[in-house]
Amino acid sequence: MRPADIDAVVEVARLSFPDHFEDRACFQNRLALYPRGCFVLADGDAPAKGYLIAYPWRADSAPPLNTVIEGLPADPDLIYLHDLAVHPQARGGGVTRAVIERLADQAAEDGWPAVALVAVNDAVDFWSRHGFAERETPGMAAKLASYGSDARYMMRDLQDA
Ligand SMILES: CC(C)(COP(=O)(O)OP(=O)(O)OC[C@H]1O[C@@H](n2cnc3c(N)ncnc32)[C@H](O)[C@@H]1OP(=O)(O)O)[C@@H](O)C(=O)NCCC(=O)NCCS
Repeated sequence: MRPADIDAVVEVARLSFPDHFEDRACFQNRLALYPRGCFVLADGDAPAKGYLIAYPWRADSAPPLNTVIEGLPADPDLIYLHDLAVHPQARGGGVTRAVIERLADQAAEDGWPAVALVAVNDAVDFWSRHGFAERETPGMAAKLASYGSDARYMMRDLQDA
């Protein structure tokens, strides 16, 4: 992902997360903080049709939705997959596996033990197929309050990858 992709990313996000709005500033913020974890599904110079955003974070924690963060945690212990979305017209072609595996390979190479995420839009089954498992820890429900009642915290262990 490059700064020039942000317009397309915001549009894919608008179409993909109607109940979980995040401001354009949030996408710019994450790209500036950790470009290594930001990818787009792109074909030449055409607007991106999908994106993935991930960055180092603390386990058993998730940033509140629609929040600009001042910096990455000083003591991160995993990679947090903030968003994965594909434009509705580009879905169903199996494009997600490549970018999820690329992120997991890169994170393992960088020495991170796990990738975690908050599943919304009833996507628990989708993430289970990509190696993530639900993880329930005390206090997590309160931390996920801004994500809605269907939100589930999930983790994929990279130790054995
Ligand atoms: C989730 C999403 C990225 C999948 O994109 P896609 O292009 O359809 O993904 P792929 O083609 O690689 O995989 C499609 C498979 O995932 C399944 N799938 C897609 N969304 C799903 C969901 N919310 N729950 C369960 N399974 C889902 C499809 O049924 C399909 O299954 P099949 O292979 O057995 O036919 C896309 O639906 C999307 O952008 N959704 C809105 C944003 C979102 O919910 N992101 C994830 C939540 S954190």
